[in-house]
Amino acid sequence: MAHTIQELLAHTAVDTPIQIGGWVRSKRSNKAVIFIDLLDGSTQHPLQLVGDPARFPPALQGKITPGASLWVDGTLRASQGRGQAKEVEIHAIKVLGEASEVYPLQPKRHTLDFLRTIQHLRLRSSTFRAISRVRHTTCYAIHRYFDKKGFTYLHTPIITSMDAEGAGELFDLSNTLGDRPFFGQPAHLTVSGQLAGEAAAMGLGRIYTFGPTFRAENSNTSRHLAEFWMVEPEMAFYNLNDTIDLAEDFLRSIAQDVLASCEEEIDFLTQQEKYAHKKHPTPLKERLTHFCQQPFARITYTKAIALLQARKKKFTYPVTWGVDLQTEHEQYLVHKLGCPVVVTDYPKEIKAFYMRQNNDSKTVAALDILLPGIGEVVGGSQREERYEILLDAMANKAIDPSHLQWYLDTRRFGSVPHSGFGLGLERLVQFFTSMDNIRDVIPFPRTPGHAVG
Ligand code: 4AD
Ligand code: MG
Repeated sequence: MAHTIQELLAHTAVDTPIQIGGWVRSKRSNKAVIFIDLLDGSTQHPLQLVGDPARFPPALQGKITPGASLWVDGTLRASQGRGQAKEVEIHAIKVLGEASEVYPLQPKRHTLDFLRTIQHLRLRSSTFRAISRVRHTTCYAIHRYFDKKGFTYLHTPIITSMDAEGAGELFDLSNTLGDRPFFGQPAHLTVSGQLAGEAAAMGLGRIYTFGPTFRAENSNTSRHLAEFWMVEPEMAFYNLNDTIDLAEDFLRSIAQDVLASCEEEIDFLTQQEKYAHKKHPTPLKERLTHFCQQPFARITYTKAIALLQARKKKFTYPVTWGVDLQTEHEQYLVHKLGCPVVVTDYPKEIKAFYMRQNNDSKTVAALDILLPGIGEVVGGSQREERYEILLDAMANKAIDPSHLQWYLDTRRFGSVPHSGFGLGLERLVQFFTSMDNIRDVIPFPRTPGHAVG
């Protein structure tokens, strides 16, 4: 069985015979020696292959070009050169798949804009390897976190008949069976697993969903995807403050896992930031380390509006009590308070019908978490558990209760205070990787006008 480069570099003793498969990053040669840098996705570090050119016919050498796939027999050696501790002395090479000179990933620096045009190949680049590993570790850490806390992972449907959540525009499924809609009623791709999650929490206590989510809003921004992944915990007997405590601990814990498990990748991405001349006051690794130690600021929406209004310089979007916060407002708050910010108790008019009404009758027990450079990464609330008030809220938002009778049933039978939130996975991975554009943290992005592969 083949080794991986990671296994060879980290665990295998020198002078061991080995076999390895991978893709050529680059090749250098002179009369005496041929050097090949090989990548296989198992680590950020290329493996250096060293051989005597006299042993490989020129026709074979001509096929060892960037992007070509190789199968190599050799011996792991202590490296003579600088820059690596181990290298492989080549005994035999087979070119499995050639890559001609039009292969787009030649060994030089490529812009992220360019890589976005070759999304089927960009996963072979070191940058996308690093991002993919951070994304993987983030997902793994999310599951581990909730598992340790006794949450049940709940699969909520991707196809739904719910059309009233107010979380965004729906993608329609128009299949029919004869002249009837396939599901007997209009169906859509889900915008959130929350309402099903609430029903489950009323029996299972603490659940979380983690799956793809679809929104047909025409937002061509660096923070929006038409298909993204959302984590949604829902907890029976939690109030708003319990939920903020959980969300804070959760985000810090995931960041700690990423720092501990992705050292190579975070170091690499921190280096990349330097090349890209980003204007961050501190490097990525330091920012993440700091994030793990720093408590979040908690302010009400009303206080946030006061802070924004007190700013001398005017915002592009004017600030009055009742408006939704725009990116420029979110960034100002995070900058002004110097840490992640939890904004709570928003006006009920700008939030969803299911959020619990506060005693002032004007605001709801909502929470948004804002991160530096990202803005909103989490949205959640305590839920309205009181049947009559929930019915009123639906009426105020022109939602027909007959479409949500099953949801109302959760309040008719054994209703309890409960709360939850939704975390946008890609926005969190943006924060962990310092990627400005959300399309660079999901392997195959879907956005208006774009769904390749
Ligand atoms: O604030 P949102 O719309 O909240 C909900 O959907 C609730 N049902 C969650 C809950 O309480 N269970 O979305 C939650 C998060 C946002 O904070 C953001 O991080 C992310 O999902 N998000 C998007 N990410 C990428 N592209 C989009 N179009 C997104 N829309 C929301
Ligand atoms: Mg939101």
